Amino acid sequence: KLNMEETMKSLLDDSFESAMTLTNSGAPQVPGRYVLPPSQRPALGSSLGTREITLPIIDLSLLHEPLLRSSVIQEINMACKEFGFFQVINHGIPPSVVRDALDAATQFFDLPVEEKMLLVSADVHKPVRYGTSLNHSTDRVHYWRDFIKHYSYPLSKWIDMWPSNPPCYKDKVGKYAEATHVLHKQLIEAISESLGLEKDYLQEQTEEGSQVMAVNCYPACPEPEITLGMPPHSDFGSLTILLQSSQGLQIMDSNKNWISVPYIEGALIVQLGDQVEVMSNGIYKSVIHRVTVNKDYKRLSFASLHSLPLHKRISPAPELVGNNAPAYGEFSFNDFLDYISSNDCVQQRFIDTLKKSNS
Ligand code: OGA
Ligand code: NI
Repeated sequence: KLNMEETMKSLLDDSFESAMTLTNSGAPQVPGRYVLPPSQRPALGSSLGTREITLPIIDLSLLHEPLLRSSVIQEINMACKEFGFFQVINHGIPPSVVRDALDAATQFFDLPVEEKMLLVSADVHKPVRYGTSLNHSTDRVHYWRDFIKHYSYPLSKWIDMWPSNPPCYKDKVGKYAEATHVLHKQLIEAISESLGLEKDYLQEQTEEGSQVMAVNCYPACPEPEITLGMPPHSDFGSLTILLQSSQGLQIMDSNKNWISVPYIEGALIVQLGDQVEVMSNGIYKSVIHRVTVNKDYKRLSFASLHSLPLHKRISPAPELVGNNAPAYGEFSFNDFLDYISSNDCVQQRFIDTLKKSNS
């Protein structure tokens, strides 16, 4: 006789089929649940659907040059205003740390299904969670993506709950998580400064903040024209540091055109999240982005999502609101998690629920 737990688990196993499993089975087509309505398809290769334009690249080592810092801050200001996005080079994270993290992730996703299922959950409040699509149990359309997400700061609090297979995972991904946490502090300072705020304005608020690492795997897909790896969305945190193993990310520009983000060896991507949009009172906007997949190879990414402490509410900075009414209501990371547990965030973005009608 099966006990309750086992029954639940086998039920879950039945409804759960990862993108990796599908790719490995060699299916010539994607199952119907992955097929997007024509208006939401990525229009790969069409010059109308995507455009190549020059996106900002910032050399972070120049932030440490007293004579150059203010011009780098100015570049960051322009990138944040125009795109809510930029790439960084000379960011200080050694290539070997990046390589090791990608290697550990590759090994994790290559594990047998049963091993990964030990960490599966549909509960977005879980600190460690393996899954596929966005949420396999509630998604109406599915996305060609497997992931493992884990809380990552403070590292010692969470690392024991991380995957114990492959054996190198905790060490290699842990080093990368620590390095991104250091980098995010420099970025938050520079972004505060670029808004004309005190350098430590956000720092104070993010000191005990959270870091969630989403490790994403987009296996080769038989029909990349009719599906996506992730739907259009913005990230909830203050900022996201994204590492990609190859091209696939697209961002939406102010004319609502999709722009493919070029792969630059050694670079990391910085994306503004909803908390910076609210804090800046809309001077900066969080960037809307999506992920395309391809026929030929697997793409990996690490999205390190930095945000305020779970229950801390963020609101527009009084210095930036001036005498006007604030354009946004306040919110916390926990409010966001509650929202995505009970709403379809592909239909409506969480941040739109915070906008005041006077803005
Ligand atoms: C995310 C995300 C982009 C990517 O995890 O929120 O947008 O390229 N990832 O994987
Ligand atoms: Ni994202």
